[in-house]
Amino acid sequence: MNILRHYIILALTLIVLTNCKAQKPTKMSKKNTIEQKINTLLSQMTIEEKVGQMNQYNGFWDVTGPAPEGGSAEKKHEHLRKGWVGSMLSVRGAKEVRAVQKIAVEESRLGIPLIIGFDVIHGYKTLSPIPLAEAASWDLEAIKNSAHIAATEASASGINWTFGPMVDISRDARWGRVMEGAGEDPFLGSKVAAARVKGFQGDDLSATNTIAACAKHFAAYGFSESGKEYNTVDIGTSTLHNMVLPPFKSAVDAGVRTLMNSFNEINGVPVTGSSYLQRDILKDEWKFDGYVVSDWASINEMINWGHAKDKREAAKIAAIAGSDMDMEGNVYIEELTQLVKDGVVNESILDDAVRRILRVKFELGLFDNPYKYCDETLERETIGSQKNHDAVLDMAKKSIVLLKNENNLLPLKKEGKTIALIGALANDKTSPLGSWRIASDDETAVSVLEGMQAYKGNILTYAKGADVTIGKAEFIQEVKINTTDKSDFEEAINTAKQADVVVMVLGEHGFQTGEARSRTNLQLPGVQQDLLEEVYKVNKNIVLVLNNGRPLAITWADENIPAIVEAWQLGTETGNAVAQVLYGDYNPSGKLPMTFPRNVGQVPIYYNYKNTGRPTDKDGNVFWSHYSDVENTPLYPFGYGLSYTTFKYSDLKLNTTSAVIGEDISVSVNVTNTGNFNGKEVVQLYIRDLFGSVTRPVKELKGFELVELKKGETKTVAFTLNKETLGFYNNDGKYIVEAGDFKVFVGGSSNTSLETTFELTK
Ligand code: NOJ
Repeated sequence: MNILRHYIILALTLIVLTNCKAQKPTKMSKKNTIEQKINTLLSQMTIEEKVGQMNQYNGFWDVTGPAPEGGSAEKKHEHLRKGWVGSMLSVRGAKEVRAVQKIAVEESRLGIPLIIGFDVIHGYKTLSPIPLAEAASWDLEAIKNSAHIAATEASASGINWTFGPMVDISRDARWGRVMEGAGEDPFLGSKVAAARVKGFQGDDLSATNTIAACAKHFAAYGFSESGKEYNTVDIGTSTLHNMVLPPFKSAVDAGVRTLMNSFNEINGVPVTGSSYLQRDILKDEWKFDGYVVSDWASINEMINWGHAKDKREAAKIAAIAGSDMDMEGNVYIEELTQLVKDGVVNESILDDAVRRILRVKFELGLFDNPYKYCDETLERETIGSQKNHDAVLDMAKKSIVLLKNENNLLPLKKEGKTIALIGALANDKTSPLGSWRIASDDETAVSVLEGMQAYKGNILTYAKGADVTIGKAEFIQEVKINTTDKSDFEEAINTAKQADVVVMVLGEHGFQTGEARSRTNLQLPGVQQDLLEEVYKVNKNIVLVLNNGRPLAITWADENIPAIVEAWQLGTETGNAVAQVLYGDYNPSGKLPMTFPRNVGQVPIYYNYKNTGRPTDKDGNVFWSHYSDVENTPLYPFGYGLSYTTFKYSDLKLNTTSAVIGEDISVSVNVTNTGNFNGKEVVQLYIRDLFGSVTRPVKELKGFELVELKKGETKTVAFTLNKETLGFYNNDGKYIVEAGDFKVFVGGSSNTSLETTFELTK
């Protein structure tokens, strides 16, 4: 009997054990296993090998910054063999990545795989619109999908870590990198940041088609003084906590695995050396357990800033401040080991950094199979697939913003007309690819000319009018603009004379925005304004299609040209997207993620400004906050964008006019499609907190929804305001919700006037 009992118990135990084994590992158990593996590995590492994990080298061809001293290929190879390199950037291609990975894994003592980083900013080879344009779609699913497509192509090409998304808020159109972010607003910016992180990383970082994301540049790079690249930043705590940090927090909450710090200083401290940002806020308060990479040699640059005496001091400051990995600066690899041996930097700092770096490598599955991203067949099948082209075309159409459409000049009739297409950019297959597109090939975008040629019912004539650039524009060179040559004007004018409608594609070359592309002039570059005015003299039926990576001050065009389409740089499928919108096969629904100024003197200009003590000219005299030569309003406000149809907003309602802090407030509004086309509208909700212990902006976006409405259809759109949206960060960086009076605005732009009120009580 006893023996039988014994057998039964044994059998039951076996069943339980077998079931346990068969069960999928939970997230928690996976995490524990990874932490144990990290401990084991860390205990075997020498100081040099730990420093090695914190060292990142650029690969051997795509250069995205100034070359460091002594960064030869021989040295890099030798360091790979010694296990002194934790990551490489800008090595790409399944074969090339396999080659460097093989050295790290098979020739170094511990065989720790490399993490391979790359600037996958708006696609890898098949390109989506530039990020600012994507943000104009306000379509979070599409943005997420665009990042997913980018991850699919990049991961098939050996890459497992992107230096994106850039989540810097910026209010300064002069700054070239506004093209790389989501614009001026922290609420929209936070949503877009989360969507991009989820798109890149997916649900499972160890899948072969997902890559680790990197929220950059931590922090406040977008507030570079006077929009000048790499410049100082001097902002107050309120701006830091309420404008700059929220998108980073959102990225961290969405699970972003890495952050990149930045070239700028804030209030006298280079952010690369800021413990406050990297340790106190990011790692302690936000509990971020991934790692921080420096920007390209930003640790060294603390010497030029006048913050560190030499490389040794720079390495010390950065490591202690929580910069875990040195991008191509050679500072950690040269200095950190000795700093630890001298007792200046505690080895626990290294352990913390290495733990973070190894954690991400384990999560990516690189220890299970270091070559998992190196499948050349998959690479061939994935890159440039029809599915990817379809996805970027979809994203491109969604990113277009209709700025003006007098007398319904658009959409164009499909038959029986003569259309003149004018502008060098209309026939350009490289510029539409934008700025951050180092893996893509020149001449691979569908030009607007090609896109329009697909519509056969009209006669299409083309004339260049004028070159935008002199010679070929390059990623690492200053772009030279044609400011004198008007020799092709005449042909363009004659072409325009004979047309029913003129489509003019004007604006910036793709390489006029992006890193190190600040401008002090926001007008159409070169002779293009003159060209526009000359053509206008002979034919007023002009559709201006803008190509640009930043808001432009196109005041004359707004006053004179009947139809204006903001087409940014839309990536590989640019021409098809533009043509489908111009011909009405796609009804545009984009809304501006950044305010367009009337002139550069208004910059920085943004919708969520402070009221000031003298907001109006109530006494009719001069003593109020204004300019004497231009009005305060922008040319086009944040959130603005038209459709081929029209929308009417009505019945704005709240469930209560008085709520206790902590209670939700429900908002609803009816939106009706009152025009002649089916269409989509981004319904936007703004609040104004009328009095605060820290003054509040005149409007703050707190909700939006993209709704699709058939002709004549009405939908009720509902929002909830709660303590996450009704509070703000005070000057101690603490989030608070205060009692008081609020306004609520709902509409299709930040300048909506449909409003109601409520109060919050204690
Ligand atoms: C410098 C840029 O600021 C950063 O955004 C980029 O990721 C690195 N270079 C690497 O190319």
